Amino acid sequence: MPPAKKYKILYITSEVVPFIKTGGLADVSSALPQKLQEMGHQVRIVVPKYGAIDERKYKIHEVVRLKDLTTFIGEKEVTFSLRSSFLVGQKARVQIYFLDNQEYFGSRHSLYTDPITGEMFKDNNERFILLSKSIFELINRLGWIPDIIHCNDWQCGLVPVYLKTQFKDEPGFENIKCLYTIHNLAYQGEYPKSTLHKTGLSEFIKNDSDLIENGKVNFMKAGILYADTINTVSETYAKELCKYPEYGEGLHEVLLKRKKDIFGIVNGIDDAVWNPLKDKQIEKKYSLKTLEDKEENKKALAEKFGFDYDPEVPIIGMISRIDSNKGFDLIKKAFNEILKMNIRLVLLGTGDKKLHSFFQEASVSKSSKFSCYIGFDEELAHLIEAGSDMFLMPSKIEPCGLNQMYSLVYGTVPIVRETGGLADTVVRFDEKTGNGNGFVFKKYEKEDLVKEIKKAVKIYSTDKKKWQKIMKNGMKLDFGWLSSSKNYVELYKKMVTSK
Ligand code: GLC
Repeated sequence: MPPAKKYKILYITSEVVPFIKTGGLADVSSALPQKLQEMGHQVRIVVPKYGAIDERKYKIHEVVRLKDLTTFIGEKEVTFSLRSSFLVGQKARVQIYFLDNQEYFGSRHSLYTDPITGEMFKDNNERFILLSKSIFELINRLGWIPDIIHCNDWQCGLVPVYLKTQFKDEPGFENIKCLYTIHNLAYQGEYPKSTLHKTGLSEFIKNDSDLIENGKVNFMKAGILYADTINTVSETYAKELCKYPEYGEGLHEVLLKRKKDIFGIVNGIDDAVWNPLKDKQIEKKYSLKTLEDKEENKKALAEKFGFDYDPEVPIIGMISRIDSNKGFDLIKKAFNEILKMNIRLVLLGTGDKKLHSFFQEASVSKSSKFSCYIGFDEELAHLIEAGSDMFLMPSKIEPCGLNQMYSLVYGTVPIVRETGGLADTVVRFDEKTGNGNGFVFKKYEKEDLVKEIKKAVKIYSTDKKKWQKIMKNGMKLDFGWLSSSKNYVELYKKMVTSK
């Protein structure tokens, strides 16, 4: 058999661990490229260089031929550079380029929102037009023509449009295929119509309406319509998107147009980073064989959140963007009933400002049972995964979700709603057979959520042996990126070989 073809992949993203992160996209943008590189493919990543990225720490340096490049945003001539470094993993080193422009990225620490108002930056349209156009300059300057441009979420939605229109006749570009991965359909990058002029695309596309939805330029819609292939981050979510209008976040009709080109590939987890046996950010490392050491993490977690440690009282952890898609309106409704149980509840995350204040107030008024940290803290996230007994994720919509997988391998039993990636990774525990690794409820209703938590708490409190069985069932699973990466390679192959 001839050796499998190796691909050149240009991976465009707005966040990458360890450089910068607001959500799961950053984890995926780090782990998948590394795994692909490890498998022998040639991957290069492009990400904006926000002010918060530490240049010295990550040895980000200038590349002479990628310095002082120019492009247009509307009539405005914009100068930018691409600086270079490596994403260094355990087994692979991936070339990464940082898009450097002081005005749009370097001068701001925050990625998408103004930290003072909490609102999206007004010029996010211009910022991500720049990201999208910069990659074509990069390809030309390097003379490195990728087989695949793999782009992610609304921030990269214009990439496929530029590729298929304005830049399609550049030498060598005709064979480049574009994969568009949807991690989060709730954010679409919607801007006033004047943005159309800024993109400069009007003279190249047949219908302006391709880029417009509800009277606004919509980057996500553009990506969906122009990419060769689209995928999302679990099989169930891919099906839900095409089946139920309410999952489409207003783009259901657009998605239906591309139905046959939409695939689902579940994310993996980076098992070098999320592994209780190797985790340097937790109180005490542990494994299936030293399960009792998990307790040390529970003690540390209780202390961190200001609770007395009690081995008999389960701690339920939550790490999430705090918004209604992640189930926080449901938690709010069920809050008093949940706190009637003999549990402790901890929350780490940011999101909807109104919900923040609800939880912040509750952590004062109900401080003996509930505590929260509004913000983002990677180390604390590791401790919550290691120290909690259960992990709650009652999402209304969940493209994939990573924390339920982290929880499973940390022996922290997930309680989830049956949707998207949660449905694909958490298996309902069956008391008769002893199979399964978590607690799963179906209807997005307060009663169902409360009932499921009660079920978990009851087994935890009355049947330690059974509880350990559930923990162990989860810990034995392998969510490494290998199998998902192979699915991506298959998808690339399909794209490259189709005409
Ligand atoms: C988004 C989704 C989440 C997914 C992550 C990585 O944050 O909401 O479900 O796991 O992207 O793909």
